[in-house]
Amino acid sequence: MTIISKILTTAALMTTFTIMPASIGSTEELTITPDTFSCISELTPVRGFFIGNLKGNLDATLAVAKSETGGKYPEGSIIQLIPTEAMVKREAGFNTKTNDWEFFELTVSKQGTEIHRRGFEDVVNRFGGNCFECHERAEEQWDMVCEMEHGCDPISVSRAMSRALQKTDPRCASTKLTEEEAEALQDFKDMFDN
Ligand code: HEC
Repeated sequence: MTIISKILTTAALMTTFTIMPASIGSTEELTITPDTFSCISELTPVRGFFIGNLKGNLDATLAVAKSETGGKYPEGSIIQLIPTEAMVKREAGFNTKTNDWEFFELTVSKQGTEIHRRGFEDVVNRFGGNCFECHERAEEQWDMVCEMEHGCDPISVSRAMSRALQKTDPRCASTKLTEEEAEALQDFKDMFDN
């Protein structure tokens, strides 16, 4: 090897090593934009809600969601019950108060998703409820995931309503509603008219 090619090889290696740490999966910070969110039913259904993992670690997220004893959701986990609200698990230590969950309130249409509000302790939903204040009441082992029996205050969105909202996500291909779901959807809309 000539001196020149040795220098070139060393330079190439140094460049590789300085660039590499930023691109290794778990150390890379998640970039969450409106395009992160799409048709809710393209996520994986678990009981009545949908989950995914933005870091490609779906098995780890599923394992916690399906565990009978709960657990800590891994980084990148995304959870949605209705198309307009989401929780995303950020990097460890990002926000110790919210167990690293970031809360999102979304506006969805056929054109796609807009992020209306995002953040940690101060995000409020369309009903005026603070996401964190409600979700933090879940018993510790459920990592702030409420479901129906984890200790959170109940919401005014019934399961028939959330199913109807999932099925009428304007970003998805249309799905037929059952009679019960159609009625629930009407009741949901009425909540905003009163
Ligand atoms: C009044 C309390 C309350 C508020 C406020 C609230 N939630 Fe929830 N959330 C719940 C309950 C209870 C469930 C479970 C409902 C069910 O399973 O049918 C739930 C379900 C969810 C789920 C599905 C996973 C789970 O925890 O069961 C997500 C994701 C979610 N909410 C996100 C949000 C976001 C984001 C906000 C704010 C924009 C918010 N929530 C505001 C109580 C609340």
